[in-house]
Amino acid sequence: MTTPAHIAIIMDGNGRWAQARGLPRAAGHRAGVEALRKTVRNVGESGVKWLTLYAFSSENWSRPASEISDLMGLLKLFIRRDLADLHRHGVRVRMIGGRDTLEPDIRQLIDEAETLTRGNDAMNLVIAFNYGSRDEIVRGARHLAQLAAGGHLDPQSITPEMLSGALDTSDIPDPDLIIRTSGEQRLSNFLLWQAAYSEFVFLPCFWPDFDRAELDRALASFAGRERRFGAVDARGAVS
Ligand code: IPE
Ligand code: IPE
Ligand code: MG
Repeated sequence: MTTPAHIAIIMDGNGRWAQARGLPRAAGHRAGVEALRKTVRNVGESGVKWLTLYAFSSENWSRPASEISDLMGLLKLFIRRDLADLHRHGVRVRMIGGRDTLEPDIRQLIDEAETLTRGNDAMNLVIAFNYGSRDEIVRGARHLAQLAAGGHLDPQSITPEMLSGALDTSDIPDPDLIIRTSGEQRLSNFLLWQAAYSEFVFLPCFWPDFDRAELDRALASFAGRERRFGAVDARGAVS
């Protein structure tokens, strides 16, 4: 069975999971962190080397202040509680997304997680936090424009590889498989550039219910796909 090298997940449906149980949305987000923990373990056990999780989008700032504060609190709690364990298991932790507008204490925790785990290579965990593809691409374009304005770069020489290199994901392979839970079928500003040739699996379950069986379902679906990257398929190539 073909296993993806990189799985990216849009962890959606915490609010609806809570609502279905008559619980506050915060309870859904707490259950979501449990699903996240289990997923890191399950994905690692499947032999997948790269896992990216969409945890907070650049548009999620438009939610009520109390929910934003719950989500910030959960990220801090996750790093404080789980970092040592992730490090022990050889997981390299990284964050993609805008850093400058985050609270200093969160920025410091993110720096700490990245620095501590920099040398690990059993598995890579990438958390997309305050992440939005358009914001990321604009930041990358701005960087290249600054180089050009300073006379260090000829605009005519800019290639797709160069723009890839100017993104937060510069040394991260493109995702092979993107999973979204909760039944929504959209990207919501996630990895727009990197998803050029990704396979998509949309699952109806809410994120807190995402377990080993759901992961296996997504992996089985991926294994049945034929990826062509614009070329002819295997049969076409020999006929
Ligand atoms: C995903 O669950 C978590 C975040 C976006 C942070 P939601 O909070 O979007 O849950 P729904 O979509 O409202 O059910
Ligand atoms: C996408 O989910 C962001 C994350 C999962 C972190 P949203 O719930 O914010 O997306 P929309 O608003 O339904 O598109
Ligand atoms: Mg949602």
